[in-house]
Amino acid sequence: MSAQTVVITGTSSGFGGLAVRRFARAGWNVVATVRKESELQAHDGIESVRTLLLDVDDEAADLAFGERALAQFGRVDALINNAGYFQAGPLEATTMDQVRRQFQTNVFGLIALNKAFIPIFRKQRSGVIVNVSSISADGGFPYTSNYQASKAAVASLTEGLHAELAEFDVIVKALHPGNHMTKIFSKTEVAPEIPAEYLPSMTLFNTLNTVRSDPAGTADVMFQMVLDGNTKKVHYYSGPDGEAIPRVKQLLGQDWYFEELSARNRAEASPLWNTLMPAPVAASD
Ligand SMILES: NC(=O)c1ccc[n+]([C@@H]2O[C@H](COP(=O)([O-])OP(=O)(O)OC[C@H]3O[C@@H](n4cnc5c(N)ncnc54)[C@H](OP(=O)(O)O)[C@@H]3O)[C@@H](O)[C@H]2O)c1
Repeated sequence: MSAQTVVITGTSSGFGGLAVRRFARAGWNVVATVRKESELQAHDGIESVRTLLLDVDDEAADLAFGERALAQFGRVDALINNAGYFQAGPLEATTMDQVRRQFQTNVFGLIALNKAFIPIFRKQRSGVIVNVSSISADGGFPYTSNYQASKAAVASLTEGLHAELAEFDVIVKALHPGNHMTKIFSKTEVAPEIPAEYLPSMTLFNTLNTVRSDPAGTADVMFQMVLDGNTKKVHYYSGPDGEAIPRVKQLLGQDWYFEELSARNRAEASPLWNTLMPAPVAASD
């Protein structure tokens, strides 16, 4: 039997690039996608990787990508919908064009790719889909409402698909990474013309989020999500600030959790929050 194959989107950097290497090291074939021609060499030297061009904003290309990916190694066993970017800033300063583009990449492109691979997995009666959401889908962070709404849509879509596809042995899971040191923050698309009234609180909030974890741990969680054989679990977390969330939510309940998180986001974290919620561990590089 030929080696198993995973398709990973957005592999030019960050979690996607690390996941390519994680799967290749374990003997998997990888269909890796990049958005720019200049990145097509990103995985040169790794024999079991085919790197293809895909801008996930192109829905026609997404919908055709299942068959295109299948043709690379003759089989597909898993899909990791990782491509995404971060649009930040108060909503009132965010343009509707920014809102649409955030959803085009993080949600509509991801939905089109789910649609492209579901029939393949349904017919072969096996397959794992990992949709990358975020811890921002789990509670209210200020100045990221557009991004977090897109990631909440991904989490909710995933729950629906999990319920819809389990009878065909197709397992759909959502990954909620905590704060990690990747290039995403150097590419943040900030809302233009932010009213000055926001700036003191925004600046304070930004100072709370400067420590970021090593992204390699998230690639390991992606690998585990595909291989653990757990057909019941939908939501997975990565990074210390992510892994603690289900536990802390369970302890505090939804409303108290939200109150404590909101206080933390105003730099007024309670001793209880500081005890329960670990901070990210700084990545060494
Ligand atoms: N880092 C974190 O703390 C964090 C936390 C929670 C969730 N996430 C999510 O994790 C995923 C990976 O992000 P990352 O942190 O690894 O950031 P990253 O290093 O910026 O990687 C994002 C990847 O997505 C690609 N991408 C962006 N827009 C695309 C498009 N329209 N079509 C195809 N590819 C596109 C990027 O390509 P280019 O190089 O061409 O831009 C890049 O390869 C994202 O969905 C992000 O929202 C990250």
